[in-house]
Amino acid sequence: MCGIVGYVGGRNAVPVLLQGLKMLEYRGYDSAGVAVFNSKAGEIKVCKTKGRVENLESKLYDSPVAGKIGIGHTRWATHGVPSDENAHPHFSSSEKIAVVHNGIIENYVVIRDFLRGQGYEFVSETDTECVAQLAGYYYSKSGSFLDSVYRVLAKVDGSYALALVCADCPDKIITVKKNCPLIVGLGKGENFLASDMPAILKYTRNTFIMEDNEVAVIEKDSVKVYNKKKEEIQKEVYVVDWTIEAAEKSGYEHFMLKEIYEQPKVVSDNLNRRFKSDGTGIRLDSIKLGKEELEGINQIYIVACGTAYYAGLVGKFLLEKMARIHVNSDVASEFRYKDPLIDEKTLVIVISQSGETADTLEAMRLAKRKGSRVLAVVNVVGSTIAREANDVIYTLAGPEIAVASTKAFSAQVVAMFLLTLHISLERGRLSLEEFREIKAEMELLPSHINTILTSAPNIKHFMEKYIGSKNVFYIGRGLDYVVCREGSLKLKEIAYLHSEPYAAGELKHGPIALIEESTLVIGVATQQNLFAKTMSNIKEVKARGARVLIIAMEGNREIENYADDYIYIPKTHPVLTPLLANIPQQLFAYYMAVGLGNDVDKPRNLAKSVTVE
Ligand code: G6P
Repeated sequence: MCGIVGYVGGRNAVPVLLQGLKMLEYRGYDSAGVAVFNSKAGEIKVCKTKGRVENLESKLYDSPVAGKIGIGHTRWATHGVPSDENAHPHFSSSEKIAVVHNGIIENYVVIRDFLRGQGYEFVSETDTECVAQLAGYYYSKSGSFLDSVYRVLAKVDGSYALALVCADCPDKIITVKKNCPLIVGLGKGENFLASDMPAILKYTRNTFIMEDNEVAVIEKDSVKVYNKKKEEIQKEVYVVDWTIEAAEKSGYEHFMLKEIYEQPKVVSDNLNRRFKSDGTGIRLDSIKLGKEELEGINQIYIVACGTAYYAGLVGKFLLEKMARIHVNSDVASEFRYKDPLIDEKTLVIVISQSGETADTLEAMRLAKRKGSRVLAVVNVVGSTIAREANDVIYTLAGPEIAVASTKAFSAQVVAMFLLTLHISLERGRLSLEEFREIKAEMELLPSHINTILTSAPNIKHFMEKYIGSKNVFYIGRGLDYVVCREGSLKLKEIAYLHSEPYAAGELKHGPIALIEESTLVIGVATQQNLFAKTMSNIKEVKARGARVLIIAMEGNREIENYADDYIYIPKTHPVLTPLLANIPQQLFAYYMAVGLGNDVDKPRNLAKSVTVE
């Protein structure tokens, strides 16, 4: 989704902005641009283009701009096609004010019509241009940059992170946000702003997070922050513990591959952090979720989007099975509009890698309004969801750059395992002995993942065999079906292949009509109690000409009778298999995407962090 970066200081702003935009590329975008105050010309120069940041770089090479203050943007089209005109920054007609914007201005038509009535002409189809024009309109009346921004804020509805520069104020950027992430980075004799930390990580790790309706005036040697009433406020600075290396590829061909290989460490970091050293349970730090609190809860509701939702479904399955508590689940975009049946006796668990997904955030706010307690499972420390939830479990996956989520999913699944164990123990549904047995198996997970990763060359070979597939079906039962849903999503996201996950038992009720000679069916069959059932479904598709790739648990050699190809995951406790069975699926999707020549880390049309509805 759109990205913002801004710089004020002693260096040439252009390389800083370009570097920042490159670090934001992972969020997904379709055009890019910068606005830089050029002191020689005494004016703001805008350079923008459809396509990649490299296109912007070559445009800037052909017609260079220089200056020590500037704002940059990667746009993910919402209002109007990806084009040079619709790319940000947008100018006011007077070219006095330039604006970059993340989010959506919902009442832009009203504002645009008003300004057209005042003789203003619009050059783009975007909602953002109305902000630039409206700021220009107010500026022409008051001559005060800051006042104009406040007057704009009083008029616009919707979600936004905005950064504005003014040709008459070449020393400052004004920035403001509502329902979109925005951080300010503090340096020595230079300051930064960004929608996301990696954009400025190379220059500073001292930051503060902008809250809704705060306005920051950023200059080289000072940053002043004002509240809605224009009173100056103090912000708490915190030091980010991510390193720039964590946000770089470190020799891997793609971030996605790097992140797949980081999973053993991510899993072990989580386990080390969460298991009590005396082996008696789970460490939840300050989160109060003991017997007493759990007695006050009659249901759990899990809400998330995309891959995070599938991690949630693993949680739903396990919590119901092991903790014997009723668990509902929904994707956030549905939950937030359905008047869900929740109240103060509901524990709502929201799961989000970024902690900024618009639907998940609003779902969480709705849950809080309805009196439910919200426990957030989040990766990005200090993100909006993390800040607003009643309690947070951080998933410790480090920065995830590839759009397709891999290590964050595994970390979320581990969080679900741990929560299930905790709640089951507290509800008396799990004995200490059973807990210790599962704990011991969990401690083997990092090494099991490493074992699966060694089978990467085989999986690459399967890709070569199946690369011509046009339709791929994923089938499984119970927990395996959840794994199928994530596997199918991954293949769609990065290989752009049509694929469908089905509960294997449902095949006969329709989908089997789609199976024809050579259709690829990926069967996930790790659940011993359902193994024979899934095998019958495999036989049914085989009998109709499908080619079958099976993921099963080591030792189940029976699959070799039915499968064209197979991948074994190491033996583990049945409740832990989703984590392991998903790894070959990640690798398969990855190699398919590479084989098809796709942009693995930045798949078309997708965004890493979906901060608009
Ligand atoms: C987007 C990403 C997915 C992610 C989903 C939820 O669709 O491309 O990878 O699973 O958003 O994001 P979140 O940050 O809330 O986990």
